[in-house]
Amino acid sequence: MRRFLFLKGVKVYSFNRIDSTNNEAKIRIEKGIKLPALFIAKSQTAGKGTRGRNFYSDGGGLYMSLALKTDETKVQRLTVLAAVAVAQSIEALTGKNVGIKWVNDIYLGGKKLCGILCERVNDAVVIGIGVNLFVKEFPDEIKDIAVNLGGSISPEKLAKEITNRILGLICSGQEFIEYYRSKSVLLGKEVSYVLNGNLYTGMAVDIDDSGALIVKDSEQNTAILSSGDVTLIK
Ligand code: BTN
Repeated sequence: MRRFLFLKGVKVYSFNRIDSTNNEAKIRIEKGIKLPALFIAKSQTAGKGTRGRNFYSDGGGLYMSLALKTDETKVQRLTVLAAVAVAQSIEALTGKNVGIKWVNDIYLGGKKLCGILCERVNDAVVIGIGVNLFVKEFPDEIKDIAVNLGGSISPEKLAKEITNRILGLICSGQEFIEYYRSKSVLLGKEVSYVLNGNLYTGMAVDIDDSGALIVKDSEQNTAILSSGDVTLIK
């Protein structure tokens, strides 16, 4: 592991290969390291996604976890904030137009480019971000739904931009939900979702200030979704 100062006031822990940068961050938070801290790896052997899923991270991407203390108690709002920081970073550095799929995915050309996993540890949070940059070959199960950013952007440069933007949004208290809404690939579209074990369909009509997705069904009943999988119906 290399350890060096990479961003002003943010300690960076850098790895060639690790199980999961989120796990490493959580272990070190428990040990009382100075925060904020950034964990970055060239590849992960057990990259974690939401709801216990894997995140393919065998190299060719940016795999980072930013550990920090914040007054923001809602993990969902932090996920939304991080998605805004990632989307703005990619657009600023590459000029590419990305979309955000509620709540934690960044899309490029209709395919998943990035996933975000926020986890709380005591009074700190870990914001884990995985971006496919130049993955040589995606596994069969995701090869039709995942995409690389392409180009020649370095993971370090993107990590630095994202970190600065996350810290900037948190410290400034700047409003960010409006940008998130403007980038949503779901708003105004028919979606399906599972609630209490039942499958529903409806129109995604809004994202409220807590980051919840508001869906109306054909009888105008409103569902406020604070977590879970939502699928876009073509
Ligand atoms: C998802 O798509 O469900 C979320 C994926 C989050 C992946 C990132 S990669 C860096 C960090 N370490 C992990 O183990 N997971 C996150």
